[in-house]
Amino acid sequence: MQVFIDSANLDEIREALSWGIVDGITTNPSLIKKAVEYFKAKGKQYSMADYITEILALAGSNRPVSLEVISTTTDAMIEEARLLYHKFNPVAHNVVIKIPVNPDGGKRARDFDGLKAIKALESEGIPVNVTLVMTPEQAVLAAKCGAHYVSPFVGRLDDLLRKRAGLSFNKEDYYPADGFIVGDQLLEDNGLLSGIHMLRIIKDIFDNYGFGTKIIAASVRNARQVREIMELGVDIATIPFDVLRQMIVHEKTDEGVQLFEADVVPEYRELFGR
Ligand code: G3P
Repeated sequence: MQVFIDSANLDEIREALSWGIVDGITTNPSLIKKAVEYFKAKGKQYSMADYITEILALAGSNRPVSLEVISTTTDAMIEEARLLYHKFNPVAHNVVIKIPVNPDGGKRARDFDGLKAIKALESEGIPVNVTLVMTPEQAVLAAKCGAHYVSPFVGRLDDLLRKRAGLSFNKEDYYPADGFIVGDQLLEDNGLLSGIHMLRIIKDIFDNYGFGTKIIAASVRNARQVREIMELGVDIATIPFDVLRQMIVHEKTDEGVQLFEADVVPEYRELFGR
């Protein structure tokens, strides 16, 4: 099980790396926007190239870092991917390019542009992380094109199910892995009962056919969801900083530490020269 941090914030990345549990980093344009705003509010401004270079150098050669393209046509995505890869991969040899599985944006004119870009990039040795995967079918298509990674968006599928049912919710709210029953209706999207359910199906299909593509569970919203991801045996979870912090906390652990502290007798304290 690998843990990636889903963040473009250098402070968060630096801190999480110091914990010794981070195996990789995923970014996207929204995370970069958040990081830019965070540093601007602190009065700091970076050149984007220097900023990305710092992330890559911090990560080092054993931790892949996903950087996303911004265009939506095959040729433009390939061009941007090459630019990102050739400019930044020499820093620490850890760049992976993120391509949306379907960059069409709902116009139904260029639904396959992502797949074409994935195939081309993988055949020239540029590793691709296929993002915005919302169904097992999309995951399989990406795997067929030789993608190194697919990133199913667990939380966003749950958002969709709740939104369609007219439920109000906070982003970090737990969504039941086996489905949400509202009244007498089990919420579903074309048979998918939750983001975790989608992940389980993708894992089963990849195992059935021996696809080498690794699954990165993305859009992870809370620690319980991370547990469910780990239970499935998914290769990687990319986890936001706040969710990583949630994973270490339990009230009985806090209480236990306080009780042990209170029970330290002088004889035992002396042992440590205190
Ligand atoms: O890795 C994808 C992730 O950044 C999206 O997360 O919470 O915005 O759905 P979220």
